[in-house]
Amino acid sequence: MTSTALAAFINAASACSHDVPEPADCVLALAPLMLDLIEHAGTFLEPQHFRSDASSYTRNLVYNAPDAGLSLYALVWLPGQWTPVHDHGSWGVVGVVEGVLEERSYVRLSPDRSADSDIELARGGTLLLGRGAVTSFVPNPDHIHVTGVPVNRERAVSLHLYGRTMNSFNIYDVATRTRQRIDVSHNES
Ligand SMILES: [Fe+2]
Repeated sequence: MTSTALAAFINAASACSHDVPEPADCVLALAPLMLDLIEHAGTFLEPQHFRSDASSYTRNLVYNAPDAGLSLYALVWLPGQWTPVHDHGSWGVVGVVEGVLEERSYVRLSPDRSADSDIELARGGTLLLGRGAVTSFVPNPDHIHVTGVPVNRERAVSLHLYGRTMNSFNIYDVATRTRQRIDVSHNES
């Protein structure tokens, strides 16, 4: 089912993705639209978008553009589930539909952004994103973070819009100062 709210959001996001060359301008324009989309989540989120897995947080596809220039997922985080340390190589806009999503940031201190080794990361701040919160990021430089839900909190559900089909990302090993590109899976709608 495609609701009016979702269709309008996808149309606006597609226009931004194609017509706005600066990622920071793109997320600036789309963050308020995500704020509205959260309010209408009940008009398009269906049971399959709330699928979860005891072994990992779950990515449920809501929309993927035919040209791979845009994708939207509903992510379901059970208590204690976290991403690896990762970046996205894309801009993104995130809105929280249910629960509290926690984001712990890292800052890359080593200057060579293309290097896969000798990466020096410093821990940054923590964001607690409650229902209705919107956050965004741009790859200028890559936004590196860990996202999830501590074991003592309730399930969280969040909407994640990216400026490409998000089927791979860099994960970082802080101890060995390395990173590698991995494929990430999702459930089709
Ligand atoms: Fe992320």
